Amino acid sequence: MDERLHKHGRFFDVWSKFYRSTLLGRELRRIQRLAVERLRLVPGQVVLDLGCGPGDGAALVSDAGAVGLGLDYSQGMIDSAKQEPQLSGRLLRGDAGRLPFRDGALDKIICTNSFHHYPDHFKALCEMRRVLKPGGLLVLVDPRRDHLFGWAAIDLVENAVFGLEEVRIFSLTQWCQLLGEAGFSDYRATPGGFFSPVERAEVFIEARA
Ligand SMILES: C[S@@+](CC[C@H](N)C(=O)[O-])C[C@H]1O[C@@H](n2cnc3c(N)ncnc32)[C@H](O)[C@@H]1O
Repeated sequence: MDERLHKHGRFFDVWSKFYRSTLLGRELRRIQRLAVERLRLVPGQVVLDLGCGPGDGAALVSDAGAVGLGLDYSQGMIDSAKQEPQLSGRLLRGDAGRLPFRDGALDKIICTNSFHHYPDHFKALCEMRRVLKPGGLLVLVDPRRDHLFGWAAIDLVENAVFGLEEVRIFSLTQWCQLLGEAGFSDYRATPGGFFSPVERAEVFIEARA
């Protein structure tokens, strides 16, 4: 498999050991809860948490009565997610660029703070569109390029300090263009609220397949 994928996988294998205990990890989990609220879950719906990390999003989805599935490339993150009892048998190790689901298999997808790591962003977005049912909902949160903090966190820290030079973030305008080109309809990309600098530097996307 792609060396870029392995590099990001190794980065997250290390981070998985202390992800939840860091200040940033806690803030990302709070933001993830905001994203889960936007899913407007209905019991029985099949929902993928893409780039699930330690499994908190998929667990919240399951707690709401939906079928929460988690997929992540990092084996370390998958191993952490296995600690969540409600995710037993519902975790997959894989790449966002090749989702192991048939066309239209999922009601909803949640993807929080993971997308900028994908080696082929457009391909991953097309995969999300493919595996969603017609009218299915994607809720995605990621740092945005049109905010100084988002740019600094990704382009300076992740690129320069950690050497993850493939990471890429997009402005609100670029996001709307990408979603349209990937075949989504009825989409919107809005900035995060003012609660924290991290949240403000995020884009919140809701898009229908
Ligand atoms: C910052 S963590 C976010 C975890 C969780 N979604 C959250 O909001 O707390 C990013 C996650 O994306 C995963 N990831 C990165 N590239 C991936 C890929 N190509 N396919 C699947 N997962 C990937 C990482 O392994 C990591 O667990």
